[in-house]
Amino acid sequence: MKMNRTQLYRKLHEAETGEWEALKQLADQSPWRQAFHIQPEAGLLNDPNGFSFFNGEYHLFYQWFPLGTQHGIKYWYHTSSTDLVHWNNKGIGMAPDTIYDSHGAYSGSAIEKDNLLYLMYTGNTRNTDWKRYPFQCMATMDQQGVITKLPPVIDKVPAGYTDHFRDPKVWQDGEYYYCVIGAQRIDQTGCAVLYQSPDLQEWTFQGELNTALPSFGYMWECPDYFELDQQGVFLFSPQGLATIGDQFQNIYQSGYMIGTPLDLNTRQFDHGEFYELDHGFDFYAPQTILAPDGRRLLVGWLGMPEIDYPTDTQGWAHCLTLPRELSIEDGQLRQRPVAELSQLRGQQSHVHHTVHHHRDLISSIEGIHYEMLIQISDIQADKVGIEVRVGTDEKTVLYYEPALEKLTLDRTLSGQSLALEYGTTRSCSLPLEEGIVTLHLFMDTSSIEVFVNDGRNVFTSRIFPQLNSTGFALFAEHGSACFDVTQWDLIDKGEQ
Ligand code: FRU
Repeated sequence: MKMNRTQLYRKLHEAETGEWEALKQLADQSPWRQAFHIQPEAGLLNDPNGFSFFNGEYHLFYQWFPLGTQHGIKYWYHTSSTDLVHWNNKGIGMAPDTIYDSHGAYSGSAIEKDNLLYLMYTGNTRNTDWKRYPFQCMATMDQQGVITKLPPVIDKVPAGYTDHFRDPKVWQDGEYYYCVIGAQRIDQTGCAVLYQSPDLQEWTFQGELNTALPSFGYMWECPDYFELDQQGVFLFSPQGLATIGDQFQNIYQSGYMIGTPLDLNTRQFDHGEFYELDHGFDFYAPQTILAPDGRRLLVGWLGMPEIDYPTDTQGWAHCLTLPRELSIEDGQLRQRPVAELSQLRGQQSHVHHTVHHHRDLISSIEGIHYEMLIQISDIQADKVGIEVRVGTDEKTVLYYEPALEKLTLDRTLSGQSLALEYGTTRSCSLPLEEGIVTLHLFMDTSSIEVFVNDGRNVFTSRIFPQLNSTGFALFAEHGSACFDVTQWDLIDKGEQ
């Protein structure tokens, strides 16, 4: 059984280009291709990797399996951009072609040194008994974009940890480089460990990050540590958390803790609560960078592991989120779409509308690719909300319940369903700010990203409606509310 899987992977890895062409043709015909999100030409995309600014451009790689929509042997695919909005597909960044990454060039990060971009990632190998051997690998990219693999820089898992040891995130502090790596202790609890290096080549194991969460899930994937406004922020994707009320509803989570800056000698991290980064159905494994202008930017995978998606049979799966700018306000992270996205704005429409005990279809607003700012005020109703991608029997609903101080995204009727075992609604608590709820939406063909109350909360989800479900409605149940709506058509990639 296990051997068969290895053989299958090998076969796909060495497949003729014909297989790729066939998959790409299938993907080209998919009705759910995105217009302004990073997506694979064909195959499966997962985590963002190596997010960086190098040689005058942003570089963003992603985990990619080219020959199917399953989680096969992973490559790094390479994209670049000068404005965080228009991304150039650069082709394969790294293939799993060495003995150290023969079962996948897994997630990792990037840092510049001596005019080279260093890519530090996890290479996975397996023996015939399917035992996994993770190596922390290194490659360089030069200014011509040529990527050269170096020998692994960390070739064993330290005592006390299992083979779930991956996803190095590297940064520089003074004369040293550091990286955090996601790990699983022998007792099956998750954690992150710290390494130090003078030169990105020789790495010394320092020990675990000492957090207040000694037993929080069975594995921490994709750790990321950075400082923002003189505070330390530790971001990671824990697996194995039980659902608590509206929290931790997805198969796996992504979240953060804010604290005093990590003590790099003792590895002590004194921090506050763990908060989820996103309340939507499809968000995982985010990665951040410090942009040259000092902004801390985040991109996540707009998808979830181990879930079947409707495009799986259409030659492609998943996309990345839009880039977001992070700040700390009131002790929590705020996430706002990067300002550069306003370049995509086309024609603008505006509606000011009061709804009484009703649902009103707004005929002047419709579409599938748009940005929208909605302000809901004078809320005198049990439930107020909006419906997007409305069609015959289809709608995606966002509603606020003032008595519960709760905002909900409902994709029960969004179109083709997915992940039903994880429910069809997601909620977060949201106290009214000056009696107002604001929603900032980015709608692409098959996704919705909602920034709530100026980035205080975010809901990121895939939806799979029919292309002719383009309507928009407002509603207020048992009372009234005032809606102020501004919509911008977003220009399709093809039209630019
Ligand atoms: C997270 C993850 C990482 C791993 C990568 C493999 O989604 O499981 O931990 O490096 O995906 O594709």
